[in-house]
Amino acid sequence: MTERSSISTCPTPPKNRYSGVDYRAEIERLRKEKNAVILAHYYQEGEIQDIADFVGDSLDLSRKAAATDADMIVFCGVRFMGEVAKILSPDKKVVIPDMEAGCSLEEACPADELRKFREEHPDHLVVTYINSSVEVKALSDYIVTSSSALTILDAIPEDKPILFAPDRHLGSWVKRQTGRDMVLWPGSCIVHEDFSEEALLELKKKHPDAPVAAHPECPFSILRHADMVGSTKMILDFVLERPEKEFIIATEQHIIHQMKKAAPDKTFIPAPGLDGDCKCATCPYMALNTMEKLWLALRDERPEIVIDEDLRKAALVPLQRMLDITAAAAKKDAA
Ligand code: 13P
Ligand code: SF4
Repeated sequence: MTERSSISTCPTPPKNRYSGVDYRAEIERLRKEKNAVILAHYYQEGEIQDIADFVGDSLDLSRKAAATDADMIVFCGVRFMGEVAKILSPDKKVVIPDMEAGCSLEEACPADELRKFREEHPDHLVVTYINSSVEVKALSDYIVTSSSALTILDAIPEDKPILFAPDRHLGSWVKRQTGRDMVLWPGSCIVHEDFSEEALLELKKKHPDAPVAAHPECPFSILRHADMVGSTKMILDFVLERPEKEFIIATEQHIIHQMKKAAPDKTFIPAPGLDGDCKCATCPYMALNTMEKLWLALRDERPEIVIDEDLRKAALVPLQRMLDITAAAAKKDAA
């Protein structure tokens, strides 16, 4: 049902093609001129996070993309995030710095394989992680993010058999949290799958008072040592709220940029990777984006996300379902 991506999780930074350009100044000028909003995920390099109008996790970024009144959305993340912005804001121009910025989870779940599963299991509801292609979303009943998965599962009747795709680690974490029996698609995130349990235990010995905050894309071998499991935004909130001064962070390392900015008096230690020399926990897809490519995307208004309208409408149904369920749950919590 799947294949593991062979892309390296220790990427060489892409080289700039232009010299002598003040990227910051040019981006500032163009974003005003074109009424563009820059959205960035926490896994983007620090400079991109700093120039973005909004930095967030997948759920908050989707909400921002749906609500913006800008004419153009420049999405600094990976391709599926740009697609989500286009699905939710079809009248806006959506550009991304690099069209090659994919995701190992998206690669692990081709639409034709999911279609085949649906045909063979017509009774199953398909609950799909947002890290998937627009074609796969269009074949799904519900979309979830790491921060909304438990809320969405709560809204699905207990007697319904479920396929959870494509992240088996997030899926088994949801299974453990909800007690729901689900078929798990065998995809994984190459970054989170590369954390080493043995090295984490060594690190914990050296920092016994440091809580471990982990993303649910990590395998159980890591999650079982975590004090907190949640989305990037939830991990950020956790380290800012807790009184401890040291934390071990088991997710893509660029989120530490936000942590250091918000809590310069605290220390954030990246969880170690499996590979002896390289412990960089860097997403090679996210790392394709650079300040230069962001500037070029704004200047040339490409590469642009274009989605066939029937496909977009089909993908919107499960995505909107997630936004509606989470909005209703938040309203209930606030009451
Ligand atoms: P969240 O920011 O929603 O936790 O997702 C993490 C991720 O892997 C994005 O690709
Ligand atoms: Fe995909 Fe993992 Fe990169 Fe997120 S960190 S975009 S899940 S490969």
